[in-house]
Amino acid sequence: MSDIRHFLTLLDFSPQELQQLILRSIEMKQAYRAGKDQRAFPGSVLAMFFAKSSTRTRVSFEAGMAQLGGHAMFLSAQDTQLGRGEPIEDSAKVISSMVDIVMLRTFGHDIVERFAAHSSVPVINALTDDYHPCQLLADMQTWTEHRGSIAGKSACWVGDGNNMCQSYINAARQFDFELRIACPPGFEPDSALLKANSDRVIIEHDPATAARGADLVVTDVWASMGQENEQRERAQLFARYQVNSELMSLAASDALYMHCLPAHRGEEISAQLMDAPDTVIWDEAENRLHAQKALMEMLLLSNRA
Ligand code: CP
Ligand code: NVA
Repeated sequence: MSDIRHFLTLLDFSPQELQQLILRSIEMKQAYRAGKDQRAFPGSVLAMFFAKSSTRTRVSFEAGMAQLGGHAMFLSAQDTQLGRGEPIEDSAKVISSMVDIVMLRTFGHDIVERFAAHSSVPVINALTDDYHPCQLLADMQTWTEHRGSIAGKSACWVGDGNNMCQSYINAARQFDFELRIACPPGFEPDSALLKANSDRVIIEHDPATAARGADLVVTDVWASMGQENEQRERAQLFARYQVNSELMSLAASDALYMHCLPAHRGEEISAQLMDAPDTVIWDEAENRLHAQKALMEMLLLSNRA
């Protein structure tokens, strides 16, 4: 099964493949808006397993698969045997024998790796504690639509060194940009990942210093799914890590800001920026649909070849 393509992190695709995928996402968005029939995969089935909550990921994958002519099946931890402790490897063999592609949102990144290792069809990581690569496809599509190539630009991450931050580190490498990470001390991303990308990623604990001159400023919730009991403590530790108009005034004059959502207005991002008429945050959310349709197309075709 080793020749099956999976999408567990951005490193599973080459920079050229990722560029191609972004262009295809933009093309598919235009075709969708023009009312073109996109049902190239009639009868194909996507199994979607969720061990964590979701709005955007579920809606975009389910709608996307329907638009491609296939069917998406929602599976949750509460009502599958996988959630009751059936081995991941056994679940992977069984589920993949009945569907064409699988999407998983779960806790440990090792779960998607073990599932993929025993799957006979492509597996997509729809968020783990470590990475959220599908969101990065949408973010890079959004940047490309508004500003062109991101190569050589500088991005600034503000907040927790979490799954989104770590995906931005991979994106910096694959899309060739610089990344300054402003996080409170003790909330840095994985040290091995930082070390492997030290040529383009730096930690700068002061948000103002990190944001100065940045082309893109990105943030995310202070407490991720699974960290709800740390929310109160984190709210104090992260208080000065807010993306707001004051911080954006330090960035490049045409800088964009992004947030994967869901957002907490008044915490990691100000209500003013969330509700600004020119924000690209809603494009970023919508692009989950188009980017993942392009992703599923690429993976389904790769498995047919
Ligand atoms: N951004 C994102 O993945 O949103 P959901 O948690 O709603 O899927
Ligand atoms: N870092 C957040 C992203 C949500 C889309 C979380 O893992 O909860």
